[in-house]
Amino acid sequence: MKDRNSYTEILMEVFQELLGEEDLEAALADSLSVLARALKGEVGIIWLLDQKAGKLVPLFQTGPVDLSNVSMEMGTNAESYVTQSGESVLVRDQTPDPRYTGTFLSEIGLTVKDMICVPLNRIDEIIGCLQIVNKKDASSFTEEEHRICRNFAALAALTIGEKGLEVHAGRKKEVLIRLLGVTKEFPGGEGVIRVLKGIDLDIYKGEFLVILGESGCGKSTLVNIIGGMDSLTEGSLLIEGKDFSHPKDTQLTEYRRDYMGFVFQSYNLMPNLTALENVQFIADIARNSIPPAEAIARVGLADRADYYPAALSGGQQQRVAIARSFVKQPHVIFADEPTAALDYQTSIEVLSVFEEIMQNHDTTVVMITHNPEIAKMANRVIRLQNGRIGDIKINLHPLHATELVW
Ligand SMILES: Nc1ncnc2c1ncn2[C@@H]1O[C@H](COP(=O)(O)OP(=O)(O)O)[C@@H](O)[C@H]1O
Ligand SMILES: [Mg+2]
Repeated sequence: MKDRNSYTEILMEVFQELLGEEDLEAALADSLSVLARALKGEVGIIWLLDQKAGKLVPLFQTGPVDLSNVSMEMGTNAESYVTQSGESVLVRDQTPDPRYTGTFLSEIGLTVKDMICVPLNRIDEIIGCLQIVNKKDASSFTEEEHRICRNFAALAALTIGEKGLEVHAGRKKEVLIRLLGVTKEFPGGEGVIRVLKGIDLDIYKGEFLVILGESGCGKSTLVNIIGGMDSLTEGSLLIEGKDFSHPKDTQLTEYRRDYMGFVFQSYNLMPNLTALENVQFIADIARNSIPPAEAIARVGLADRADYYPAALSGGQQQRVAIARSFVKQPHVIFADEPTAALDYQTSIEVLSVFEEIMQNHDTTVVMITHNPEIAKMANRVIRLQNGRIGDIKINLHPLHATELVW
């Protein structure tokens, strides 16, 4: 991308992003990404104030830290200083600002060298703040960049206020799976190829997490590691608090058998078994299964239970594969591009089945896709870029499968 350093040029681009998209949430998320990139910021956050709880909640963030479960008490930190006073803060080279004493974002362990923090100022109230942290090239933010942020924040605050976007600090979400500094190397032609370069991520109970990213960026590698189908090189993996970084075979067998389900792009059904028998086969092995016929009915295939895969359409085969993944009542289902081989209408049917499972079973679903439209169904969207988390977006209003269009 071309290096943008002109004040007007950056503002134009960010404003275009903010005003050009009808969906305000998408517009805010995209314009924050554009702003952070233009300023070479490592992390960008829009915090909104939950008035009732007296806490700041991250509405959008870009950059490799996971703030989705963070809410910040109003206190001595820079963010609450900015939100309460309406004054903005520019920190350079860790020089402390005398106006507040707290350490910044110590809660998530991000060391701040440089920072811009500006208020989201509506006409009569401050609704939160915009924050850009650390320069990727280790330089410092300039006064000009500070002004760009103030201008952007003013417009963002107006649009947020108009739409009435609200956040609620809520209870802390329960962490099901935690990744800390996970890396993955594969042997390559000349030495090793580092595919994952340090992933820190929490996956919450009951959430629908979508992982987006270009082909080859490491999505399948990441999900295979979490799903116990591949091993990590460095870092750690915790499943419900238990260390799973280098699991024993018995641990792994149990995990795969009872705890998680997998759905792939290719349906991987056994051709010599009927739809029902394909599901039965897994139900017999697992500990906590529901009746296979019930699973088949749930995916809308009761009348085709006795068909062999060859007699079913692609979408129907994928629905059998989904029934097979949830018949054992797993805590989490991993789905790697489950609709990549399907047309639009069939994809929506398959996504509706996932939606139904999530609503009725409190099952966590982690889905890989390269279709950004599908991401609109998610509670959270993680964009992987070149082996790292590029940004994380929280959808305040996830769409239903039937509302998606592509
Ligand atoms: N077993 C393997 N051995 C060597 N390289 C691999 C292996 N699996 C994946 N890779 C490489 O890792 C990178 C990421 O692959 P993958 O996770 O499948 O990407 P994505 O799912 O995002 O398309 C690719 O460059 C791929 O060639
Ligand atoms: Mg893949």
